[in-house]
Amino acid sequence: MITLHALTKIFPGGVHALDDIHLTIADGEFFALLGPSGCGKTTLLRTIAGLETPTRGTVHIDDRNVTDLPPGQRDVAMVFQDYAIFPHMDVTANIAYPLRIKKIPRAERATKAAGVAARLSLTDLLHRRPAELSGGQQQRVALARAIACHPTAFLFDEPLSNLDARLRLEARTFLKRLQRELAVTTVFVTHDQAEALALADRIAVMSDGRMIQVATPAEIFHRPATTFVASFIGSTPMNLLPARATPAALHVAGATLPLPGPLHSGDNLTYGVRPEYMTLSPTERPDAFPGVISVLENLGTHTLVTLETPTGPHIQLVVPEGEEPPPGTPASATPRRALLYRDDTLLTTL
Ligand SMILES: Nc1ncnc2c1ncn2[C@@H]1O[C@H](COP(=O)(O)OP(=O)(O)OP(=O)(O)O)[C@@H](O)[C@H]1O
Ligand SMILES: [Mg+2]
Repeated sequence: MITLHALTKIFPGGVHALDDIHLTIADGEFFALLGPSGCGKTTLLRTIAGLETPTRGTVHIDDRNVTDLPPGQRDVAMVFQDYAIFPHMDVTANIAYPLRIKKIPRAERATKAAGVAARLSLTDLLHRRPAELSGGQQQRVALARAIACHPTAFLFDEPLSNLDARLRLEARTFLKRLQRELAVTTVFVTHDQAEALALADRIAVMSDGRMIQVATPAEIFHRPATTFVASFIGSTPMNLLPARATPAALHVAGATLPLPGPLHSGDNLTYGVRPEYMTLSPTERPDAFPGVISVLENLGTHTLVTLETPTGPHIQLVVPEGEEPPPGTPASATPRRALLYRDDTLLTTL
């Protein structure tokens, strides 16, 4: 278990990299930190590892207050964004290094290293040095080294960022299976929302040193707490449309929708609907967005359709390949599973 209390990091020069973070990560949990570049993900991981000293607040690992302990006494294994591995050691020695520190006999070290290496497709590279490896191979060596030492917690900083798309998917599945088997508490940093959704038990979405939402992938996907989270999650961005309330209805991009509750005409409302949750029909309906198809983008099994609405905003929706009307066709899009935000904060699901 990792517990962060009021964790704050202000760098010399005044950057608030972490701003009063409170968080408990459960035993064996796979926890993802997700957010745009510069939001404080690496700083948070380095603070847990003991490589940064917090300006305020505490870090507990299990029941131990480790805030003032050096990294070596925290029993965590970190894989860095730039995967520092030892240039003068071959792959076997790199993977086995933490076992050597723990004074495990040489033969046992080699067996363990070979076992982990095999699971990361590194068997043919065991006698090479880092200079003779590609970036993705070096990254897998760094992962293998962390896994070999079986720590209390894994701290992974974008460990898959240098892998090509296919290896990245393979490594992702491998990591998830391995983490389940070992049941080691894992904090995983990524700015790839798909990776976070696929891997994590819970996700924290960060912005400017703060945690905007901490929840399961399903909750984050279906009930993003703010428009920032809504726009960050999803492989095609959520449609976020300005909405206006009258005493009788909610008006959004030419559609007249039922009022979800008492709203005021002055409220700053945003209507959100994912491209995957809209159906296209050739006829106009009052509860659907009217428009004209303007752009078609091929997504393989599906097509991303852009609909220009008469009131201005365009709406994007995903339809199965082959069912897209040609550009220029009038059509209307019926939403489901929509969300309503007031002042950029989730008010209700619709
Ligand atoms: N040593 C440092 N001194 C001063 N400012 C720093 C230092 N390290 C990081 N920062 C600043 O702290 C903020 C958070 O940085 P951090 O590296 O944690 O971001 P990140 O979320 O990991 O981003 P990325 O996705 O680009 O890796 C940034 O504004 C960064 O410029
Ligand atoms: Mg980083």
